Amino acid sequence: MRPIRIAVAGLGVVGSETVRLLRARSESLRQRMGTRIEIAAVCDRHASAMAKRLGLPASVRRLSDPRLLPGLPGVDAVVELMGGLDAPRSLVLASLRQGRHVVTANKRLLAHCWKELGQAAAQGRSRLHFEASVAGGIPILKALDTSLAGDRIEAVYGILNGTTNFILTRMAEGMDPAAALRRAQELGLAEADPTRDLSGQDTADKVSILASLVTGSWLRPAQVNTSGITGVAPEDMAFAETVLGRRIKLLGTLRVLSRAGRRPAVEAFAAPVLIPLAHPLAAVRDEFNAVLVRATSAGDLMFYGRGAGAGPAASAVLGDILALGRELVSGAAPASAPPGPAPVLGESACSFYLRLAALDRPGVLSAVTQVLGGLGISISTIHQPGACGPKHIPIMLTTHPARPETFRRALRRILALPDISRRHTVMRLLP
Ligand SMILES: NC(=O)c1ccc[n+]([C@@H]2O[C@H](COP(=O)([O-])OP(=O)(O)OC[C@H]3O[C@@H](n4cnc5c(N)ncnc54)[C@H](OP(=O)(O)O)[C@@H]3O)[C@@H](O)[C@H]2O)c1
Repeated sequence: MRPIRIAVAGLGVVGSETVRLLRARSESLRQRMGTRIEIAAVCDRHASAMAKRLGLPASVRRLSDPRLLPGLPGVDAVVELMGGLDAPRSLVLASLRQGRHVVTANKRLLAHCWKELGQAAAQGRSRLHFEASVAGGIPILKALDTSLAGDRIEAVYGILNGTTNFILTRMAEGMDPAAALRRAQELGLAEADPTRDLSGQDTADKVSILASLVTGSWLRPAQVNTSGITGVAPEDMAFAETVLGRRIKLLGTLRVLSRAGRRPAVEAFAAPVLIPLAHPLAAVRDEFNAVLVRATSAGDLMFYGRGAGAGPAASAVLGDILALGRELVSGAAPASAPPGPAPVLGESACSFYLRLAALDRPGVLSAVTQVLGGLGISISTIHQPGACGPKHIPIMLTTHPARPETFRRALRRILALPDISRRHTVMRLLP
């Protein structure tokens, strides 16, 4: 069998480590795959300097413009590790349409262009692998796609963003949120612009990929009910831990409803939730990721590990290259199919946590409880821990399970009360 010739686009953190490992482990990869991987080309803005630093031979083509890659002859597969959206989208779509297989770690590309990518792969009869796009070194996508393919996935719960998990871990220890973010940036765990992490968008992209993989339909990131951690305050963490026996985690949540003869429907969230301290995800600290999969036959399965970093991400990319190589060697490589849209379920009932800021006047608490009671929402816990400013005091409460639309109606009425500030925080409680 002739070698499989690949082009690696992007020689940054993940790309450099991928090239290094491909070369260092070439013999064991050959033995496992039945053929050799040959790096035919690399592409990066600083391709020549990076190729030199990586010790690549002169026979490896160096390109600085990814638009030249699809036209390069003799390349079987493109490994896209540039990040961003526009340049990778053009490169990956053109490559797939031309019958080149693609390995990518790019969650934004997958989440936002899933349908186009499926169509391009079907057109070119090419394959798309993307294990590193969700939870870095944790092999969650292959587990869902192959090992659990015969099972029925009921739910997936994941801590999918290391930056926010690190920040929430420090906040649970009493650190101020801004200081926790600075610490994450000092340690290289947060980007200079952490907006996509803090806003929950990064987690929503990963939930979109998980949902699309599990259901065979495309769940757009906009269909993921998303909120970030910027509204989470130290008093929420303290109240959750000491009064409720819960911990706040930014969770990607997917509930899957299988329906006879029809595609599964999903309910998807990327939001901070209060989870019981005894829940396995509550013990996941620092920048670690973890995914809990609930399958009908296999039961609960927990995956844990590093969700980012050169080694974990490159390990996943190498696994994809190996899987692709095996498909090409065996000839059993069906094209990735274009997906239809994912049916989305209505939101299910759940318990809510609400923090309000109220003027310290008699009757405020009873006005709040009357609104909730009037709409049939029963309160589980209610607490006024002390003054939160010269005028306002915090009110923290949790509800028994309520319909989300009823809770939102109650919230609108509560926020319209004269002694209640518009400032508030809402989170769900994981059962
Ligand atoms: N880092 C992780 O831990 C991790 C984990 C899982 C998945 N991922 C994913 O892996 C991908 C790569 O991440 P990374 O951390 O390795 O990024 P990175 O360090 O920024 O590397 C990207 C490289 O590609 C180059 N590049 C980007 N756009 C280019 C263009 N249009 N033309 C030529 N060169 C271009 C960059 O050059 P410049 O620096 O000059 O722009 C840089 O050298 C991303 O999709 C990311 O989401 C990363």
